[in-house]
Amino acid sequence: MRRKLAAGNWKMNGTSATLTELSGLISAHDTPDVDILICPPATLLAQASALAKSHPLTTGGQDCHTAAGAHTGDISAAMLVDAGATAVILGHSERRVDHEESNDLIREKARAAHAVGLTTVICMGESLAQREAANTLDIIAAQLAMSLPDDCTGENLVLAYEPIWAIGTGLVPTLDQIGEVHDFIRARLERRFGPGVGRSVRLLYGGSVKPDNAAEIFAVSNVDGALVGGASLKQSDFSPIITALEKSA
Ligand code: 13P
Repeated sequence: MRRKLAAGNWKMNGTSATLTELSGLISAHDTPDVDILICPPATLLAQASALAKSHPLTTGGQDCHTAAGAHTGDISAAMLVDAGATAVILGHSERRVDHEESNDLIREKARAAHAVGLTTVICMGESLAQREAANTLDIIAAQLAMSLPDDCTGENLVLAYEPIWAIGTGLVPTLDQIGEVHDFIRARLERRFGPGVGRSVRLLYGGSVKPDNAAEIFAVSNVDGALVGGASLKQSDFSPIITALEKSA
């Protein structure tokens, strides 16, 4: 059985003061029935990891470089580990767009992250134009084929399906649309990595997950949790999402 995962992506939000939200989350969920991952901005990662030290909640980065050394402004995978991270989000659509990240680059980043023991949360999803042109599954197939390295396992890989048009918009695909993509991803993973690995990788849905729609999304086939943006910033929003996931487990 895949253990469910509630992941929060704080994006470029949060200062030290925001860590009170994390402390609240930690005390509200001291023995969770699901995994909880919070990915704060890099400036807060070490502090967040220290807060979560003797708690099941884990922390992650939002990106890493493929290498180390002379790359001003970048962060290596080993540095994320040093700051207490167990995971890193890679290939978020905001990075694919803002930083023109390609599938090839994301695959190399994932290789670097796996080499130091990080779990990668690799994101994929279609634009509205691609959805309207009925190209969603082709886009997902290409992203899956090119942005995953060959060394993926059920432990080091989590996939997040995040339709770009659903991120931060309040728009959510229909439950059938979510199920169609998640079932497709599962089948492709099994075909490429074999049924053992293919069935053990957790698949998250992301894009406008809120307390009031979480339960119905978590009931969809092959949805093993969520990657949550805006609603992960406040404990009062994220806690009910975690609870909904626990109930679905
Ligand atoms: P929202 O939950 O704010 O739509 O963001 C989703 C997301 O991009 C998580 O990575």
